[in-house]
Amino acid sequence: MPLLGWKTEYSVMDAELDHHHQRLFHLLNAAYENVMNSAELDCIFQIIDELSDYTRYHFSTEEQHMREKCFQEIDDHVAKHREFAHSIEVLRSRTHDNDLDVAKELIVLLGEWLLGHVLKDDRKYAELSNGTG
Ligand SMILES: [Fe+2]
Ligand SMILES: [Fe+2]
Repeated sequence: MPLLGWKTEYSVMDAELDHHHQRLFHLLNAAYENVMNSAELDCIFQIIDELSDYTRYHFSTEEQHMREKCFQEIDDHVAKHREFAHSIEVLRSRTHDNDLDVAKELIVLLGEWLLGHVLKDDRKYAELSNGTG
């Protein structure tokens, strides 16, 4: 049972970015399943590595799409991306800490990010595509 599933109402009206967001939801659920099945907890840093690479790729694509559409709040948005990327790197550097603690923090960090950023800040970009924003 996934912790948080992507829904069509979360769409930003951009198929490529929706696909990226679905991948981020998948990584959250993978981390959650990792914690639920503690025998596999050693995979958590693999998930953090993948999240780090994938967010970098996603952010650069999303920022490019936003620039192409002249998204007004781009500077503020880029700053939020940098802040999140930094938090992931901090978590990634904690290889000597307890894996379960790191896994729990990852779930909270990524879960809050998906609910607070993808479903709110990224949706402002969807309003542009809708012609209502
Ligand atoms: Fe995004
Ligand atoms: Fe974003």
